Amino acid sequence: MYAAALDSEFARAVRAGLTRTEQKTLPCRYLYDDVGSALFEAITFLPEYGLTRADARIIQANAGELIECLPDNLLVAELGSGTGAKTRAILEALHPCQDVVYYPIDVSAASLAKCKQELGSLGAVVPLETSYLEGMRQVAERRAPGKTLLVLFLGSTIGNFDPEAAIDFLYAIRLCLQEGDALLLGTDMVKPVDQLMAAYDDPAGVTAAFNLNLLARINRELAADFDLRQFEHVIRYNGDEQRIEMHLRSRQYQIVSIRRADLIVDFAPNETIRTEVCHKFRSEQVCRMARVAGFQMEAQWLDEEWAFAENLLVAR
Ligand SMILES: C[S@@+](CC[C@H](N)C(=O)[O-])C[C@H]1O[C@@H](n2cnc3c(N)ncnc32)[C@H](O)[C@@H]1O
Repeated sequence: MYAAALDSEFARAVRAGLTRTEQKTLPCRYLYDDVGSALFEAITFLPEYGLTRADARIIQANAGELIECLPDNLLVAELGSGTGAKTRAILEALHPCQDVVYYPIDVSAASLAKCKQELGSLGAVVPLETSYLEGMRQVAERRAPGKTLLVLFLGSTIGNFDPEAAIDFLYAIRLCLQEGDALLLGTDMVKPVDQLMAAYDDPAGVTAAFNLNLLARINRELAADFDLRQFEHVIRYNGDEQRIEMHLRSRQYQIVSIRRADLIVDFAPNETIRTEVCHKFRSEQVCRMARVAGFQMEAQWLDEEWAFAENLLVAR
């Protein structure tokens, strides 16, 4: 049991990220345990976080047009679906004329359970609790001949990848697709820095709790002794990289033991762990990224209140 935990993917990722000699990091996928997923959902309701509402408005207003752009033999898969709340409009637009099969792919069991419960009346919902690419491979294996795949990657989660990694990732998705399959890609666009800072550092402290929960998760699952009160949530805008960075800053010198990762690590005063990056995009960058990864931009819809785009890409 103990040896298995030491060798778990989570333990290895924590060890790798916290033993880096320059910036310490933790992968953002581990923000989403049951507590983190609930906190993320709360973030989407914050007045300062306009991103999810913009995404939802675009999908709600254009789901019919989106479906009309595509053949009528669709299978729908969603990467990092969360609860799939925004996807309801797409499934509803499909529902009257097709037998809908929807594969939400996510590492969060709690989000997938809620997704199935809330969207199950609209068709066959087949949750895949796994990572993005493994989920895509499973969907590609299950697809029946003659079906066209519509893959959703909403919420600008693509912004969590560095630019080159984002292209590699989209290319890996492209390899799971056939010509004519489609990818609906949500991208949060460049906007004033103060608007971004408020979105990721709300005064009620919900985003801070979401970030700090990562240390609480390490305490719970890897028998660590992080004192959460000795870390604070910090947001930085990195203009060179065109991205928001989420960090946890150590308030003092401290030593932390993470038993199930076989690790003792120290933190200097003000040293940070970077826990997430959220790149922001310009239209031409989205087009380039899509083209290099083997897609053609078929349509782009923009929100008028919050600079956000939904991009319909078709596999060339
Ligand atoms: C920023 S949230 C977006 C949720 C939803 N798509 C939306 O737009 O509101 C990212 C989602 O991706 C999931 N996730 C993060 N990393 C993942 C990975 N490597 N593989 C699969 N799912 C992942 C998280 O659990 C979470 O539900």
